[in-house]
Amino acid sequence: MKGLFITFEGSEGCGKSTQSKLLAEYLRRKGCKVVYLREPGGTAISEKIRNILLDPKNHIEPLSETLLYMVARVQLVKQIIKPALAEGKIVICDRFLDSTIAYQGYGLGVDIKFIQHTGKLATDGIKPDLTILLDLAVKEGLRYREFSKDRIEKRSLSYHLRVRKGYLKLAACEPKRIKVIQVDKDKFVTQENIRELVERHVIPRYQRPG
Ligand code: TMP
Repeated sequence: MKGLFITFEGSEGCGKSTQSKLLAEYLRRKGCKVVYLREPGGTAISEKIRNILLDPKNHIEPLSETLLYMVARVQLVKQIIKPALAEGKIVICDRFLDSTIAYQGYGLGVDIKFIQHTGKLATDGIKPDLTILLDLAVKEGLRYREFSKDRIEKRSLSYHLRVRKGYLKLAACEPKRIKVIQVDKDKFVTQENIRELVERHVIPRYQRPG
């Protein structure tokens, strides 16, 4: 049995968490079994690593940062994502490997080939069936983060611009998997566009478990 793996990506303040949760609720209402996750996170160890990664007091080297995201990912893939997909469930994950390529690769300059190679090991070869990239002007997104910024959000505007550009490059390289959705001012309009995409591209391929 094979489930369905949908990931959400995007730069800061693009509304990923809201949109991915709305999609999960929508699919549950339709009777699908949905597992909702976030990265880094989703297992006890991955949540601890998340705290280390996002704590503004920590000074973390770019390579250490990259590897910490990968460690959190190994735990999540092995313990939650793979078993859920094997049971035929729909897994929705707020961020995945593309985040590391965008934030540590394009953003911090860590070697992208290295990230892809370690990423392949960390994900056990699992690739999302669909990745929804929510695109929004960087300044607009950061406005929503003005108050409680974490270690990554605190980085310079030019860093966040590189991240967004990186994402758009990834989408251009893999147009079948990564679909770009422009964020609308009205979150329900954005959600409607996401649902349409999911219904068109992946639901027809999905076989519900028994
Ligand atoms: P979130 O704010 O979307 O929950 O994600 C946590 C932060 O971690 C966000 O600033 C993006 C960053 N991040 C990376 O830099 N690399 C990664 O691989 C992942 C998964 C997240």
